[in-house]
Amino acid sequence: MTVLEAIAGRRNIKRFKPDPIPQSELEEWLEAATFAPNHRLTEPWEILRIGPETRKQLHHAADFGGAPVVLALLAAPGRSQEETDENIVSVACFAQNLALAAFSAGAGARWASIGYSAHGREVLGIPEDRAVIAVIALGYPEEVPLARPRKPVAEKITELP
Ligand SMILES: Cc1cc2nc3c(=O)[nH]c(=O)nc-3n(C[C@H](O)[C@H](O)[C@H](O)COP(=O)(O)O)c2cc1C
Repeated sequence: MTVLEAIAGRRNIKRFKPDPIPQSELEEWLEAATFAPNHRLTEPWEILRIGPETRKQLHHAADFGGAPVVLALLAAPGRSQEETDENIVSVACFAQNLALAAFSAGAGARWASIGYSAHGREVLGIPEDRAVIAVIALGYPEEVPLARPRKPVAEKITELP
């Protein structure tokens, strides 16, 4: 699979098979994700592996599509507002790397915003100074949905003199 095929083929997965993800596979995807760009090599990602009790308390309507693994990705604060903002962007890059690594191995990811809510933060025990970038469910897809078309990128380009 080429990089372009992985980028274009990855989809947000709605339902997963119950099959577990081997620990070595998961670690490989997470290691790959750490090669995300991050300014000044702050490596700002922090990962919470959400266990069954915590997962229940989150009350996610679809229970993360039945995924065998659910992670919360947090961004550590920087030494300035600019660094904090850049850390958030770096963790978003980490999340995308993780989704692409999973996809390239025949698995998939489902992004959930539940960690942004006051309830989600409380259940996950997120310290005040951490941003929750994503709750990512990982597993082997029951079905990979078709891509929804995007507008031609040419519409988004402004040429500057
Ligand atoms: C910041 C962010 C938050 C998202 N939150 C959710 C969510 O709460 N629930 C959900 O089903 N998908 C969520 N998604 C996934 C998008 O809905 C999904 O990427 C979009 O529908 C396009 O589908 P595709 O990724 O399969 O191309 C989120 C994606 C991002 C980047």
